[in-house]
Amino acid sequence: MKDQAEKLREMALGIKQQIEEDLRYEMRKTRVLVITSGKGGVGKSTLALNLALNLCARGKKVVLMDADLGLANLDIMLGLVPQYNLHHLILGKKSLKDITISGPYGLKIIPGGSGINELANLESEELRRIIAELGKLDGQYDYMIIDTGAGISKNVITFVLAANEVLVITTPEPTAITDAYGIVKSIARKSGAINLYLVVNRVASNSEGIMVAEKFKLVCQKFLELSITPLGHIVDEPLVGEGIRRQQPFITLFPKTAASSNINTIAERLLSDDQKQIESLGARAGGIRNFFRRIGGIVKS
Ligand SMILES: Nc1ncnc2c1ncn2[C@@H]1O[C@H](COP(=O)(O)OP(=O)(O)OP(=O)(O)O)[C@@H](O)[C@H]1O
Ligand SMILES: [Mg+2]
Repeated sequence: MKDQAEKLREMALGIKQQIEEDLRYEMRKTRVLVITSGKGGVGKSTLALNLALNLCARGKKVVLMDADLGLANLDIMLGLVPQYNLHHLILGKKSLKDITISGPYGLKIIPGGSGINELANLESEELRRIIAELGKLDGQYDYMIIDTGAGISKNVITFVLAANEVLVITTPEPTAITDAYGIVKSIARKSGAINLYLVVNRVASNSEGIMVAEKFKLVCQKFLELSITPLGHIVDEPLVGEGIRRQQPFITLFPKTAASSNINTIAERLLSDDQKQIESLGARAGGIRNFFRRIGGIVKS
């Protein structure tokens, strides 16, 4: 008799553990971070790649998606030549595994190419297939970082609106700041929870970085009633260009420079926000699958 009761208790415990494991899996959804800017050429791709690599070096699993319709920047920055891109996945000619390429530290890259634009024109049946395919990545990665083109084009806005987390990057130039404010203003019109981050690139000094970020934050609070979290700044560093010329990531070539340490700080702040992000997932479902579902919703509406 006692044995049977013991067995039942063990069974109940097993079921409880299974439920807890399932819940933990749900919480382990991938954080999707979209990197964008108002003005072009302010350092989106540089940050996307080096931030992704920094997170990889910390043992995080990261997939980087190149959603810039212009030049396929990211693979050139790494000296890689992808054979396929999202376009081939959409056509059903290649699988997600076929189009994904590997970078340093286990980083995975999904070349977007023209495929990003095509996402907007898919029939719902096709879109469902692509969402299901990309959704398979959910939980497999800690982060999906999406590098967008600049500006308020339909493509960029679609990505920004679908994201739970958006990082806006600007330089201290007044034109870049004004354009960054324009992007934030478009985000402000959207409903739902969002984590909005700011990075100031190419600053002359730490104090300039801090000052520009604080000013921008205050303006967003005052005029848009929007809270934006400064993640840090990156100093202007001529060696960044050298990394691009050598087609090697800057932080691996020049890890001891101030700019590399700036990227490290940005990664640390992003990581320390993990808990906040998990909590906000309750308000607005996160993960890769939901991100692409929302893209579908925005495109169809
Ligand atoms: N901190 C920095 N110091 C010096 N140069 C930098 C820095 N960050 C970026 N750059 C340079 O600025 C140029 C543009 O950078 P990047 O390609 O990352 O910008 P982008 O925002 O992705 O541009 P696009 O809008 O065309 O996609 C590159 O030549 C890069 O070397
Ligand atoms: Mg770019």
